[in-house]
Amino acid sequence: MKGIILSGGTATRLFPLTATTSKQLLPVYDRQMVFYPLNTLIKAGIKDILVIVSPEHSGQYLNLLGSIFKNHGVHLYFEVQKVPRGLAEAFILGESFIDDDNVTMILGDNIFEPDFSKEINNFESGGLVFAKKVPDPERYGVVKFDKSNKAVEIVEKPKKWISDYAIPGLYIYDNRVIEAAKKAQPSERGEIEITSLHNYYLNLGELKVSTFSGEWLDAGTFDSLLEAGRIVKEKKIYKKFDPMIDEAIAEFNEDLKALAKKRLL
Ligand code: TTP
Repeated sequence: MKGIILSGGTATRLFPLTATTSKQLLPVYDRQMVFYPLNTLIKAGIKDILVIVSPEHSGQYLNLLGSIFKNHGVHLYFEVQKVPRGLAEAFILGESFIDDDNVTMILGDNIFEPDFSKEINNFESGGLVFAKKVPDPERYGVVKFDKSNKAVEIVEKPKKWISDYAIPGLYIYDNRVIEAAKKAQPSERGEIEITSLHNYYLNLGELKVSTFSGEWLDAGTFDSLLEAGRIVKEKKIYKKFDPMIDEAIAEFNEDLKALAKKRLL
């Protein structure tokens, strides 16, 4: 299983904060947002992770993550997405990185409290996505279930209500996702939508949609960013990281301190 963190985008809803840095490098309590999706992948034992970033922030990502796990057995790779053409483009940009493997993709601004190790490790083929009841489904990709809890319809940001179940930014697919992404047609807003990929597997009868309990935070607005920091602190999510990540951050801080000392001399 390979991992991808999609960490580009324009983050217009967070202007002016994102005039100076990437949304996913903004702080959520005591660490940059991108560490939360990294944790979801690393906790599941994924060792090879591609981080897709926008050109203007690539240097900042390299400064923070370029060497942070180098002594810890996790290999990070970086790819630049020149224009935000949509979530599904991750699998086109990541084609050679994914190679012949399956892939778990997570959005760089999605924070999950639950541990998805079991789901990621037990994955065999097809597609596996998740569903969570939300008060504002029109903001998300939405899934409708039938009476036997089988997913029957998935619509991106539905204008007309179909269900309260949003699909969060964590997607597990087999290798066919690369070809499906290449074939996906841009939507009205000019993006290749992740929903097209869900529907590709849904039409084949090979998409599983699982509900889950525990927090899911999408830190893309001022309120949700503030809320994310508050919940991370209150529920002590920042204390439930893979110990390797905490160790790597502590080492990184030591390096920064040493550098700061040198600068003072
Ligand atoms: P969004 O929150 O939908 O878009 P955005 O981050 O550009 O923000 P805004 O709507 O405020 O302008 O994106 C969800 C996640 O996917 C986020 O982590 C950014 C990332 N993303 C990319 O990396 N590339 C893309 O082409 C798109 C559309 C999003």
